[in-house]
Amino acid sequence: MVLEIGSGMGETTAEIAQQNPAIDFIAIEVHGPGIGSLLKKIDALKLKNLRVIRHDAAAVLEDMIPDGLLAGIHLFFPDPWPKKRHHKRRLVQPAFAALAARKLAPGGYLHAATDWPEYAAQIDEVFSLNSFLEKELQERRSRPITKFERRGIGLGHPVRDLLFLRRQE
Ligand SMILES: C[S@@+](CC[C@H](N)C(=O)[O-])C[C@H]1O[C@@H](n2cnc3c(N)ncnc32)[C@H](O)[C@@H]1O
Repeated sequence: MVLEIGSGMGETTAEIAQQNPAIDFIAIEVHGPGIGSLLKKIDALKLKNLRVIRHDAAAVLEDMIPDGLLAGIHLFFPDPWPKKRHHKRRLVQPAFAALAARKLAPGGYLHAATDWPEYAAQIDEVFSLNSFLEKELQERRSRPITKFERRGIGLGHPVRDLLFLRRQE
């Protein structure tokens, strides 16, 4: 099972699920219109392998996902909170890294992407410092473009993908 955090309007989420029918996906999103948009896509594409939860992702991970269950976590373009006084609202903090690492199966992956270089550096540092995660040296990019990413590219933002693996115990 692969879990996506912050699926937004869900284009990429639905496309990935359609391309990988043998994998079960869960998308977590708090934004109502995004949830509605993704549900429409699930219906239109007759997807059987994608479920949606409207709730805070950290709470879902903590309370609804058993430890060591996930084959992967997708975190595509988390809210960058660019103002310094808002940095504490960013999702990727040490406690989140520990939670995400605990939910991954050994060998499971965590794929993050952002168009905000300074947040990319924070994500890199926070996940690299978690002793259960190992950075993949090749920052692979094997995913469809997302809606938020398209906007960032239009604004000239550089996109960076970061990939980490859950160490075998
Ligand atoms: C910048 S948007 C990116 C959406 C999509 N991944 C994309 O690339 O187009 C970030 C999304 O994360 C969602 N989000 C932020 N914090 C969240 C949380 N704690 N739990 C679930 N979703 C969250 C927001 O509602 C928003 O839709």
